[in-house]
Amino acid sequence: MRSKVTKAIFPVAGLGTRFLPATKSVPKEIMTLVDRPLVQYAIDEARAAGIKEFIFITSRGKGALEDYFDYAPQLEAELRRKGKDDLLEILKSTNMDSGEVAYMRQHKPLGLGHAVWCARRLISNEPFAVILPDDVIAAEKPCLAQMVEAFEETQGNIVAAMEVPDAMTKSYGILDIKEDMGSIVSTKGMVEKPAAGTAPSNLAVIGRYILTPTVLQKLNRKQAGAGGEIQLTDAIDAAREDGEEVYGFRFQGQRFDCGSKAGFLQATVAFALARDDLRDELWNYISDVVHSEKAAQ
Ligand code: UTP
Repeated sequence: MRSKVTKAIFPVAGLGTRFLPATKSVPKEIMTLVDRPLVQYAIDEARAAGIKEFIFITSRGKGALEDYFDYAPQLEAELRRKGKDDLLEILKSTNMDSGEVAYMRQHKPLGLGHAVWCARRLISNEPFAVILPDDVIAAEKPCLAQMVEAFEETQGNIVAAMEVPDAMTKSYGILDIKEDMGSIVSTKGMVEKPAAGTAPSNLAVIGRYILTPTVLQKLNRKQAGAGGEIQLTDAIDAAREDGEEVYGFRFQGQRFDCGSKAGFLQATVAFALARDDLRDELWNYISDVVHSEKAAQ
């Protein structure tokens, strides 16, 4: 029987040091692209892919994230009283039903693999998705929905992948390609953050995965890998060594690395320009800035 993917894990327990001092008190995932927190984009993408259970791996200081998904009865009543129905609808669209969302604590930031392992008791013998909210993907069909379709065909582990320049391979998990079939590649290995000049390809893993329960079993070993962290890519590759298929999936869409300042700013501009209510004003501003920069040169 073919398995369906209905659960997604959102690892959000990292320290977010690249955004200090903001992340001293604001979880990175609550930072806003235009007017929606990063995590809302991740939830919307998961829902569009048929996900029914949302599992957050959190840590100390992430209380604002749990509050964000709660009902806000006082705020709702106030908007209703003032007849602000449009804002009320926006607010209601962020509510999560009781029992739909679960929070698990990762007590120490031991790595992405360890964060995923923290959800093991909430996943039974079924495939599951992993979404990193700081990878935001603008796409006509949301990235995870594209991957779920691919999974329905292959029933093997699938990682979202994109080509990166040689100089960037050392910052990613890199796929060793067995067969390149276009949007899907089969793999014969996977290396986390390879040293410069040693990457097996330019195809990098980014923050969307559909994984089998075998990967959780491999994480039970809790072996530290690159950077002294328990790496998710190592566990996926161990499942492959055990005979499971691991596919790279070249998704359609544009990925923004919102875990970095430059990526976050690019995403802000791209998402604002895509909005009817902001486009003209922002475009005029950008044009003025470019014009004055050119004049000053
Ligand atoms: P990052 O490598 O971006 O780390 O983690 P970070 O802590 O969020 O940010 P920086 O590098 O200090 O600025 C990638 C994803 O894995 C999660 C993070 O929350 C993020 O979604 N993660 C990482 C965990 O949940 N636990 C960990 O131990 C490590």
